[in-house]
Amino acid sequence: MSPRKIIIDTDPGQDDAVAILLALASPNDIEVLGITAVAGNVPLELTSKNARIVCELAGRPDIPVYAGCDRPLRHSLVTAEHVHGKTGLDGPDLPDPNMPLQTAHGVDYIIDTLRAHPPKTITLCPLGPLTNIATAFERAPDIIDLVQEIVLMGGAYFEVGNITPAAEFNIYVDPEAAEAVFKSGIPLVVLPLDVTHKALVTSARNKAFRALGTPVGLAVAQMTDFFERFDKEKYGSLGAPLHDPCVTAYLIAPDLFTGRHVNVEIETNSALTRGMTVADWWRVTDRSPNALFIGDLDADGFFTLLTERLGRL
Ligand code: BDR
Ligand code: CA
Repeated sequence: MSPRKIIIDTDPGQDDAVAILLALASPNDIEVLGITAVAGNVPLELTSKNARIVCELAGRPDIPVYAGCDRPLRHSLVTAEHVHGKTGLDGPDLPDPNMPLQTAHGVDYIIDTLRAHPPKTITLCPLGPLTNIATAFERAPDIIDLVQEIVLMGGAYFEVGNITPAAEFNIYVDPEAAEAVFKSGIPLVVLPLDVTHKALVTSARNKAFRALGTPVGLAVAQMTDFFERFDKEKYGSLGAPLHDPCVTAYLIAPDLFTGRHVNVEIETNSALTRGMTVADWWRVTDRSPNALFIGDLDADGFFTLLTERLGRL
C-alpha cells in the first residue's frame, strides 16, 4: 500500500514535536506533504519556528512549513507556557532553523493542496487548536468534500479537562473552530485525553529514548524530561503524556487503539464549560455519530513502535 498523504497542522509543543518526528520516521506509512503552524501552546512566531527546528532535527529540511492563523476565530489566544516552557520546546538545546518558512499562508496551502490532489486522498492531522482548518473550510467550502479523513488530538470525556475543569486545551483555545470541524461531516478520529493520558513516558520509556544514542533520541528524552513535570505535579502521573504522537501512531498502527463511533458536540456558549467535548459515549441520545472517539491504547505497543521508529532517524 502506498503511504497515506497527510498535512500536519500543529502548535509545537514537545508532544507535537514527537508526533512530527514519528511521522517523518515512517515514510512507508505516511507521506508528510507539508506542515502548517497555528497559534496555540505558544504564539505563531514560535510554533512556526519550532516546526522547522523539528524538521531539521529529523534531517528533513525539505518539508515545507507554513505559518497559519495567529489567533482563534473569535476570542483572544490562550497559550500554555506553563506546560511547554517559554519557547514551547523547552528541554533540549536545539539550534535555530536554517530552512525558510514558506511565504504562502498556511490556510491557502491547505486549500490549494486539497484542490490539487484527487478527492479524498489527503488526511488532515490537527495537533493544536483547529483555527487553520476551520478557516480553510470557511473560505473554501468546496474542500470539505475533498478531505479523506481528519485524525486529531483534542477533547476528553472521562478525563474532562486539563486547561479548565471542563475543557481540553486544543478545543478550549478555539471552540468555534472545533465546532465547525466536528459539524463538517468529514470522517473524524478523535484522540482525546482519555487515551493520551495513558501514553505516559515512564522513566524506563524515557531511558529507552536516550539509549537510542542519537540526537533525536536524546532530544526526545530531554523534551519529555521537561514536559513531565506539569503532569506529575497536577495528576501525580508517572511521566509526560504523549498526546499528539497518538495521532501519528494511529495512522501507522490503528490496531493499537480502541474507541467508539459516537456523537461529539462542542460547547461554545457556557462560560463554565466552554470548549467541552460532549461525547455521547453511552449513546444516551439519538444524535448521529460523527466521530470515532478513542478511549484506550496498547501503551507498551505504542512505545515499542515509537522508540523503534525514532531510532530510524
Ligand atoms: C494538547 O494541548 C497541548 O498542550 C498539547 O500539545 C496537546 O496538543 C493536550 O491538551
Ligand atoms: Ca499540540
